Amino acid sequence: MKILVTGGTGYIGSHTAVELQNSDHEVIIVDNLSNSDKNVLDGIEKITGIRPEFEEFNLADKKKTADFFKRHSDIEGIIHFAAYKAVGESVEKPLMYYRNNLFSLVNILQGMKDNHIPNLVFSSSCTVYGQPDELPVTEKAPIKKAESPYGNTKQISEEIISDTIESSELKGIALRYFNPIGAHETAIIGELPIGVPNNLMPFITQTAAGIRESLRVFGDDYNTPDGTAIRDYIHVVDLAKAHVVAVERMVNQKMKKDFEVFNLGTGNGYSVLEVIKSFERSTGEKLNYKIVGRRPGDVEQVWADTQFANEELGWKAEKGIDEMTLSAWKWQQSLKEKD
Ligand code: WQD
Repeated sequence: MKILVTGGTGYIGSHTAVELQNSDHEVIIVDNLSNSDKNVLDGIEKITGIRPEFEEFNLADKKKTADFFKRHSDIEGIIHFAAYKAVGESVEKPLMYYRNNLFSLVNILQGMKDNHIPNLVFSSSCTVYGQPDELPVTEKAPIKKAESPYGNTKQISEEIISDTIESSELKGIALRYFNPIGAHETAIIGELPIGVPNNLMPFITQTAAGIRESLRVFGDDYNTPDGTAIRDYIHVVDLAKAHVVAVERMVNQKMKKDFEVFNLGTGNGYSVLEVIKSFERSTGEKLNYKIVGRRPGDVEQVWADTQFANEELGWKAEKGIDEMTLSAWKWQQSLKEKD
């Protein structure tokens, strides 16, 4: 199948491109390289031996996107990652986030309708749940008011997709990620750090690499066993494989509803201190960290109920926390070699 991966030179997009090619699908990537690097294409080719087709333009540009779909109406499925995703930045620049993330989606959906491309997998996020009332959190949990414009663009995007599906022949699957971390076992692709990392894992590996002085642990006064916040960390390769399963489900017409939503997590919650312990155990490195105050907007604890994805998608995360933290460290070390 010919699959379009938007944002395919990004972190999760590039790992998904690799898994699609490993499953003999033809991949075409569109990315505006605003938050990624074109040499990721070399990395994908080095891993799979196949260089994905690539076009560089901004999907928020209506004309360029319409033109692209006219030239590629043979696409059978789209996996849409391309979006801005920094929570803090979205609070400072909401209009940039709404324009980019929502205009891109609308242009893609228009292109699908105009060219009879039926299948869309959408990159969503567990942030739509906020702090769930019940844990583990299922797909039926109520959607809470987003804590940030970034999280709001994910909620609004799901609604835009659902409404468009209602009024057309399109089909959609929204995949709600928990916390993707780690890197491909070859350490040829991984999370490209641009600026100071917001997320925990890249900050840990950069601290261990001596790029950052020390890791600040945001709060140890939460109502959790060790006081630090809990998340459901999932290996990015497990996450990538779920996207292949989802797009094949659509193309092979296995869906039960025209719009389906799946939580993609491991079902295990780990605290910040447990992730640090895992990193030290798996790498043998000693991490320099200090406890500071809570970060505004953080939820206390969230992890996924994975039953629906396991049973309905027939997909289950396989990699454990030590494999995640070690793969992140190997990727960080490969970056140093590139310097
Ligand atoms: C994880 C835990 C922090 C950094 C966000 C987005 C989500 C997705 C993943 C895009 C929290 C703690 C972190 C640090 C710390 N993004 N932490 N020191 O906030 O769960 O999710 O990123 O799709 O949509 O909301 O991930 O990695 O930032 O934080 O103590 O320097 O690590 O407080 O408890 P988060 P995170």
